[in-house]
Amino acid sequence: CGIVGYIGRRDVAPLLLEGLQRLEYRGYDSAGIIVTGPRAAGLKMIKAKGRVRDLEARIPKRFAGTTGIAHTRWATHGAPSDVNAHPHLDAEGKVAVVHNGIIDNASELRAKLVADGVEFLSETDTEVITHLIARSQAETLEERVRDALRIIEGTYGIAVLHADFPDRIVAARNGSPVVLGISEKEMFVASDVAALVAHTRQIVTLDDGEMATLKSDDFRTYTIEGTRTTASPTTVEWEAESYDMGGHDTYMHKEICEQPDAVDRVLRGRIDERFATVRLGGLNLDAREARAVRRVKILGCGTSYHAGLIGAQMIEELARIPADAEPASEFRYRNPVVDPDTLYVAVSQSGETYDVLAAVQELKRKGARVLGVVNVVGSAIAREADGGVYVHAGPEVCVVSTKCFTNTTVAFALLALHLGRTRDLSVSDGRRIIEGLRRLPGQISEVLAQEDRIRKLALEYAEARSMMFIGRVRGYPVAREASLKLKEVSYVHAEAYPASELKHGPLALIEPALPTVAIVPDDDLLEKNRAALEEIKARDGRILAVAHQEQPKADHTIVVPKNEDELDPILMGVPLQLLAYHTALALGRDIDKPRNLAKSVTVE
Ligand code: G6P
Repeated sequence: CGIVGYIGRRDVAPLLLEGLQRLEYRGYDSAGIIVTGPRAAGLKMIKAKGRVRDLEARIPKRFAGTTGIAHTRWATHGAPSDVNAHPHLDAEGKVAVVHNGIIDNASELRAKLVADGVEFLSETDTEVITHLIARSQAETLEERVRDALRIIEGTYGIAVLHADFPDRIVAARNGSPVVLGISEKEMFVASDVAALVAHTRQIVTLDDGEMATLKSDDFRTYTIEGTRTTASPTTVEWEAESYDMGGHDTYMHKEICEQPDAVDRVLRGRIDERFATVRLGGLNLDAREARAVRRVKILGCGTSYHAGLIGAQMIEELARIPADAEPASEFRYRNPVVDPDTLYVAVSQSGETYDVLAAVQELKRKGARVLGVVNVVGSAIAREADGGVYVHAGPEVCVVSTKCFTNTTVAFALLALHLGRTRDLSVSDGRRIIEGLRRLPGQISEVLAQEDRIRKLALEYAEARSMMFIGRVRGYPVAREASLKLKEVSYVHAEAYPASELKHGPLALIEPALPTVAIVPDDDLLEKNRAALEEIKARDGRILAVAHQEQPKADHTIVVPKNEDELDPILMGVPLQLLAYHTALALGRDIDKPRNLAKSVTVE
């Protein structure tokens, strides 16, 4: 979900709609806006099921105001509908709330309020907050919000507008991101800097347990208990243009094509030629501590988890530290043994994914050392971690991750090289990896240059109802990510399997109607992989190979440039992003906003 709010002198509705559009990638089953202003009588609200453009279409000509809050929703409690869209109002129509997160004790509070005669209009947990604020007898809006927050349990990022206090917006955060955009005569509030950067780059990020009051020329932050906090704005580095489509038809395509530059950025300033290593300024892990690490555990969700699988292999290979990756969502629910000699690494594009954040918080509670491999600077996970490596992919807007995945794997290569060089990786191996890293941007461009052929291949395979992706060791996480990419964006069922496991079951599925995408790097497992292709061919399976040389057993081969063995997985995923993209395009899918998915899942 996404929140945006504004207080100032400008006409607020167009500003909020533009902000919502920039947030739409976070969730988009309904949207709503409420405005007021010095000359507006009371609050004016419009809500609509569907996209921001559906909301826009409903906004009347006369919808003037200079203060307002707006929301784009991804349903958790209550089906997507006009009434369930935010903002939510109290019975008198004076208090408006937009909310991200989940109120855990909502049903209990709702029952109490209903018993007291309160009428609910929607099925949402958010409406509870609205009524609680409305019922508070406190003098100021801040105190009324505080009274409500004392009663609710759960996660929230909220913005509140009150008809009797039209000179301010009150915001609060607990577990769901809230950022303030600071300008001279106007202030913004949002759940994501994406909504603000077109107007200001001066940002204040609220901490959990923090609240803020925004007036057109002033802002204040304080704890939920009321103690003032000092927040000085920081400047975000991302330009508003980075959020535009820049001549591409979709963000996904733009972001795939940006990868040579993005990889260049994650490497920039970090390579230390002299000592054949890398400098990672934010790691907060000195050589002695790095040498004491006995195990590395990587945690992430979705695509970030897959980048973590590749990262774990690189760390094992280059630093010879046992490493593995696990979905953060699973880890946090199995009461894991937290080991003081293990280095935990949390991976996240957004830095806000709740399952990852919750895992980090649990680890820290138990005294673990946690690093972040995160794209969004200053995000919750980045701030919660003891140190880390920023991925510097730039803003990623398409719901499915492409450039951030690639950059995250490069960031892991840097981390692995760093750990390796503080332990026993030789100078010559260090140099070899550095040379390999430097070749990546150019080699990615070579892969992208094959787009037309990959598009034709996508057309050829787009009819398949299901696809099998196989790979072995280094190729296996690549297969898993490629399979996820295809599923997410084209809705074609796909399954990833280690090539070595094929004969233990899935071979039964192989027939002409189930094509296989095989990842076949030119490494010491080449012959074994070729044997797997033969097994498939013997069952009349069609094969599309991604390899470093033509594969005679495959029906088609996409040949990618060879890098160092350890870095090959980074490149081998790129053509399969294009394959997923063109399959989705051929099937007429909503590429940047696949059904049922959201870019950041900030709820459990
Ligand atoms: C959502 C997105 C995925 C993403 C995952 C983790 O499920 O749809 O594309 O990989 O969250 O997001 P993160 O921001 O933590 O990398």
